[in-house]
Amino acid sequence: MHQLAQLDHAYLWHPFTQMRDWLDREPIVIVSGKGAILRDVRGREYLDGNSSIWTNLHGHNHPKVNGAIRQQLTKIAHSSALGLANEPASLLAAELVRVANPGPVFLATREGERNNLNTNSIPAAPPAPSPLSKVFFSDDGATAMEVALKLAYEFARRAGRSKKPGFLSLADAYHGDTVGAVSLGHIELFHGAYAGLLFKSDRVMSPYCYRCPFNRAKPERRDARDARRCNWECVGKVEQKFAAQTRRGNPYAAMVVEPLVQGAAGMIPQPAGWLRRVAEIARGHSAQLIADEVLTGFGRTGVPSAVNHPRSTGLFACQREGVQPDFLALAKGLTGGYLPMAATLTTQAVFDVFLGEYGAFKTFFHGHSYTANQLGAAAALASLEILQSAASVRARQRVEQTMREELKTLWSLPNVGDIRQVGLIVGVELVRDWRRREPFELRERAGARVCEAMAKRAVLTRPIGGVIVLMPPYCTTPAQVSQMVGALRDGVDEVFGKRRL
Ligand SMILES: Cc1ncc(COP(=O)(O)O)c(C=O)c1O
Repeated sequence: MHQLAQLDHAYLWHPFTQMRDWLDREPIVIVSGKGAILRDVRGREYLDGNSSIWTNLHGHNHPKVNGAIRQQLTKIAHSSALGLANEPASLLAAELVRVANPGPVFLATREGERNNLNTNSIPAAPPAPSPLSKVFFSDDGATAMEVALKLAYEFARRAGRSKKPGFLSLADAYHGDTVGAVSLGHIELFHGAYAGLLFKSDRVMSPYCYRCPFNRAKPERRDARDARRCNWECVGKVEQKFAAQTRRGNPYAAMVVEPLVQGAAGMIPQPAGWLRRVAEIARGHSAQLIADEVLTGFGRTGVPSAVNHPRSTGLFACQREGVQPDFLALAKGLTGGYLPMAATLTTQAVFDVFLGEYGAFKTFFHGHSYTANQLGAAAALASLEILQSAASVRARQRVEQTMREELKTLWSLPNVGDIRQVGLIVGVELVRDWRRREPFELRERAGARVCEAMAKRAVLTRPIGGVIVLMPPYCTTPAQVSQMVGALRDGVDEVFGKRRL
């Protein structure tokens, strides 16, 4: 075993990893990367099939991001944001506010779509919130969500809406691993053990068309969102939750969503119109909307063919449905996948309830040592510039389109139940047999075994249970996309035997 691998085995404890299994085999030790390629200590090369756990945008070792960090290093790496401002963080906050606001807010439901709804009780939408105009920096996705959670809680209390504000989030939601973020999560496997540590948040059905009990469509060899036959019962459930809570006299402070795709739940995409509908319900009950775009932000959900407003940059999933949240949590891709930095954007209205005389102690008592770190901010500014270039837009369109074509080849595999793609996010759900949609038991490690077979074919990714995730960096070439999907196909063949429909 390589000496570095030995040191890892001796001293490291890896996240979300059964360490007994880990210690059984020699780990891949990464020493460098370039574009979509990772290179290990033995000189082997792999494709980064999940963008290093959904963080990397433009590829590794990108000259522009490298240059921005180097340039910043010649000045300073870090000074505290407690009591001091700094250059790149000021510039970054302004740029984030610019790209996060699509212009005038569009929240109207189209008449035709309203008629499709099974719920007659959607209240008229109150005025849309003011733009996102304030940025609170932190370190990672979980802390960005903690900030949103605390601000929404305190806003509801101070605005006199509730003495004990409550939150509504989706079944199988995942918002990070700090205690507040875990309290908003509903993945029993991850969160169950800590129940005693958590505050209670309400859960509502998420729109998982492939496994929806209300979807009357038979399994078909196409995206379950398009094949679905339902009456938007999932939206009705959201309305029922809000109505019940309002009747109890303690309306929700906020609804928390991952817009367009629920990531750790298994890359579960929402059918078009779902987000706008639930946003409207939340608004109708005067609740705030917390959009967790830790995964979906910064172009991950693709390049919209027509954004809802000409000024929209279309970098965020919310903008795809014309939804303006009260809180936008960003991390992962913020620095292009280089450094741990996060941001929570919110409105002037939220900011204002924390203003007052010093002695009134309305201050937001929250912060982190590395808040507004200069190296992270410099990387983020460079990343945002790349993202908005015509070349990046073209690259994302190319990856998305090539992926869409390549994925079609997987429908002939009987162990592939569902193929879900939203932009540059892909989940391929493995099943025992596609006609019965029967899932594998978690302990069978079906997804893990396929990913191990893919690693042998030089493609690295991690499964979510029986779902194989593909999430390539935006610089991935068509040939590399084809290699990723090919490794998945061959991996499934190796694990389950080669069969075709
Ligand atoms: C939607 C979402 N929110 C929050 C998080 C937590 O982010 P982090 O791991 O940076 O704390 C994740 C991580 O996967 C995520 O997917």
